[in-house]
Amino acid sequence: MKKVVLAYSGGLDTSCCINWLRDKGFRVVCFSANLGSEYSPSELRRRALRSGADKIYIKDLRREFVYGYILPSLKAGAIYQRKYLLSTALGRPLIAKYLVEVAHKEKAQFVAHGCSGKGNDQVRFETSIKILNPRLKIIAPLREWELTCREVEIDYAKKNRLPIKVSKDKPYSIDKNLWGVSIEAGILEDLGNEPQEEAFILTKSLEKTPSKPQYLEIEFEKGRPLRLNRKKLDLVSLIQKLNQIGARQGIGRTDLIEDRIVGIKSREIYEAPAGWILYTALRELENLVLDREVLYFKELVSLTYAQLIYQGLWFSSLRKALDGFIEKIEERVTGKITLKLFKGNIIISKRESKNSLYKKGLATYGEKDLFNKDWAEGFINIWALPFTER
Ligand code: ARG
Repeated sequence: MKKVVLAYSGGLDTSCCINWLRDKGFRVVCFSANLGSEYSPSELRRRALRSGADKIYIKDLRREFVYGYILPSLKAGAIYQRKYLLSTALGRPLIAKYLVEVAHKEKAQFVAHGCSGKGNDQVRFETSIKILNPRLKIIAPLREWELTCREVEIDYAKKNRLPIKVSKDKPYSIDKNLWGVSIEAGILEDLGNEPQEEAFILTKSLEKTPSKPQYLEIEFEKGRPLRLNRKKLDLVSLIQKLNQIGARQGIGRTDLIEDRIVGIKSREIYEAPAGWILYTALRELENLVLDREVLYFKELVSLTYAQLIYQGLWFSSLRKALDGFIEKIEERVTGKITLKLFKGNIIISKRESKNSLYKKGLATYGEKDLFNKDWAEGFINIWALPFTER
């Protein structure tokens, strides 16, 4: 019998996928990754088996996600279209990697996912899979089946006695992991609608945030966040902690009209408190310790890096090569940034680093000025020379 390994989330789509694949004559092995969404493994297992899976692998990939995907992306300063820290996009190649691994272990020739036919995630999964093993055959039930809307899917699930929570139509599509939450569909599809409070699952609305600011000190070593308020934390806990703290202060909400890989403009709202706090602090430290040429070039790298992640090219040679550049420049990015969080704002309060390039003696307008003003005139003559008509 043919065997397929399915990326399983436990939701309605992937539960229907199990049944649909079985109807097509497959034995279905599920794979579920924990990237930091709250879900219970026993519940996942129960649902997968009840839906007709033979077997399910469940893996806690939070550490690998944080150190192998989030951290490189943070150091690279990757943000898509200025507002999206790429939480969903970063998770896909990691899930794809294990999907391929489980397929090898199970000697399955097929892999499947529950992504829709007009989104980015199908591109990310399949591109990653093709790079890792071009011989695996990929099935995308949602591009093929006749279950064209949620209502039809719910009927199908009921008819086949699949274990779905037949909730009142959930108004949004949500994807959550440690690096953030992506929320789309429902009333957000109308651009005249401001996101309603109930759409957010992590962050407090500004109206409900504390009336006093909260201070935080983040210490980085070679670009890696190491300590929070002087306490050494592994990166998983540090991100979780910052998500809590930031969420309480209403930090990290964005609302983006984004360009999907498949050419569609769509609207999505995001929550990423820890991500924005760390990104802001690291940028600030970089401004202090990196020279201007490196900073300029890094901006270009950040844009490209974000684009590669968004477009499903995590496993490309270019991404790996850019990591080489980033690792090199981050060698001197060590120091501490103190932030003040207040009403959704991240305010810089203090910057300290042994590698600081800031020289007060040069910058000062006070008495102890070390800058030689005599050099300025000649410098400007030469600087302006190419643009000066004689
Ligand atoms: N637009 C984001 C991306 O392409 C998130 C996609 C998934 N969003 C969701 N709400 N399920 O990375």
